[in-house]
Amino acid sequence: MNNIRNFCIIAHIDHGKSTLADRLIEQTQTVSQRQMQNQLLDDMDLERERGITIKSHAIQMDYKFEGQQYVLNLIDTPGHVDFSYEVSRSIAACEGALLVVDASQGIEAQTISNLYLALGHDLEIIPVLNKIDLPGAMPEEVSDQIVDLIGCERSDIIHASAKEGIGIAEILAAVVHRIPAPKGEPDGAFQGLIFDSVFNSYRGIEVIFRVYNGEIRKGDKVKFMATGREYYADEIGVLRLEKEPRDVIKTGDVGYLISGIKTAKEVKVGDTITRMDRLAAEAIKGFEDVKPMVFAGIYPVDTSEFEELREAMEKLQLNDAALIWEPETSAALGFGFRCGFLGMLHMEIVQERLEREFDMTVITTVPSVQFNVTTTKEELLKVSAPSEMPEPNHIESIEEPFIAAQIITKSEYVGAIMKLCMDKRGILKNQVYLTSDRIELQFEMPLSEVVFDFFDRLKTISRGYASLDYQYLGFKEGDMVKLDIMLNGEKVDALSAIVHRDKAYEWGKRLCEKLRELLPRQQFEIAIQAAIGQKIIARETVKALRKDVLAKCYGGDISRKRKLLEKQKKGKKRMRQVGNVEIPQEAFMAVLKLE
Ligand code: GTP
Repeated sequence: MNNIRNFCIIAHIDHGKSTLADRLIEQTQTVSQRQMQNQLLDDMDLERERGITIKSHAIQMDYKFEGQQYVLNLIDTPGHVDFSYEVSRSIAACEGALLVVDASQGIEAQTISNLYLALGHDLEIIPVLNKIDLPGAMPEEVSDQIVDLIGCERSDIIHASAKEGIGIAEILAAVVHRIPAPKGEPDGAFQGLIFDSVFNSYRGIEVIFRVYNGEIRKGDKVKFMATGREYYADEIGVLRLEKEPRDVIKTGDVGYLISGIKTAKEVKVGDTITRMDRLAAEAIKGFEDVKPMVFAGIYPVDTSEFEELREAMEKLQLNDAALIWEPETSAALGFGFRCGFLGMLHMEIVQERLEREFDMTVITTVPSVQFNVTTTKEELLKVSAPSEMPEPNHIESIEEPFIAAQIITKSEYVGAIMKLCMDKRGILKNQVYLTSDRIELQFEMPLSEVVFDFFDRLKTISRGYASLDYQYLGFKEGDMVKLDIMLNGEKVDALSAIVHRDKAYEWGKRLCEKLRELLPRQQFEIAIQAAIGQKIIARETVKALRKDVLAKCYGGDISRKRKLLEKQKKGKKRMRQVGNVEIPQEAFMAVLKLE
């Protein structure tokens, strides 16, 4: 146990965590030259394509240092704010963290928030100044920022380049010297905290855990304390590049367990595993509940796939503890699920993973935050779907969620950012100069204005020199109204949105225009109308299609005709028929793209 070190790598997005993980894996010769590839731990296709880490990834490395053999359990974590729940769970399995800061960018919003997460768990912080090879690197200035932020000595900061392999040996030495060995009682009753899980269609569910006390042996009978269920530990092992079976996993270590569990509901991330022959008195404190920020419906494109979609959601949830959902019905779309996400990127990733990993084709409806609605009968409703909003004359008051936002930027962009935040109904609370040229702005803002396109706009107006982090604050009264959309006179609940009254007219008008562009023309005319209560506030028309598409092929050869039909069929992906109108996925997101 004295020779184990558990640590994670935390940083703002793109500061070089995954690249640094690669170098550590290389240096410790954890994988062969042949197996080595860039961003080795980002093993999901989606992560590689997008160049971002979505999941935390654990890997065990052996390291010989000063004549001693060490086991280093490394967890690479995501940087994007939508995945901070992944970071917080990883942190719970570690005693130390490498805080990576890009020497050309300096401290950013998620550098600070992830640092606080780590300090909250009393982790030993090793500051790493990365990318010192870049011509634009500002090692002196950024070192000052780091010293200010964490109160360390300048000499504690390790200068590194993950790309060029500079500073890697120093980092490994610091991991061994500065990060404490895990604590716990090797002879105590076994307690393993589940911090992740994966569904594997051949072997059932694999749970990943950190041992706090005692040990577990292959074949032991175990109990999951929250669910009360009992299993045999058919296979246990450690996470090398592949899973490597072992006979025993001891205190302080990180391992996996396979016990033939087939249904996703049986496993809960944050649960404690104990051994039946010597039950632990209590469970380890699990994780804080996730607080979803954005809600949207997810519906199968093919209504007959509802049950399949449910299974897919259960399996995905195993590997994405931040995803929450419950069944819902929409008048327009039938049976589906109301889901809660940590942000728009999270929502996008869930949709993509459902399609790639589970072969589902789904429609996501207009996203919304959750409102507190008090009815005239004094009932308190939590409303996250426009269809749940009571009629205006039944509403006493509505409260909307607010967040505290921190934006770090260069002083030259402050004016433009202030204007953007005010447009989004933000209230400036404070501004702090971090250095002469970098400033932190603190705003209180309605969550509904931030979750959708705010981040993109912030990036655009600051040319990328602004980073954003936010925390949930609470509810405040807001003058919100439901904006209904009707197609040929019929309300389409899945297209409605809840918006601030001041913006409702403008939005209604633009939403109709946008939908006119997005709805494919059909054999008949489509009237698009926006309404608040009984009052129609905007109207657009999609003209009827004049010619049959196939008419174009008149006299043409059959293969061309087939190709055209194929093309149409492909276009049908992610479309839903509502009444006699076909609505493509983009139409449900139109409300997000109005500005
Ligand atoms: P997320 O996981 O998405 O938060 O990103 P990350 O922090 O893991 O960053 P990643 O390792 O993917 O690196 C981001 C980019 O920076 C990549 O293009 C890397 O090649 C580059 N990069 C990482 N380290 C260095 C470095 O030391 N020097 C230079 N010049 N580039 C680096």
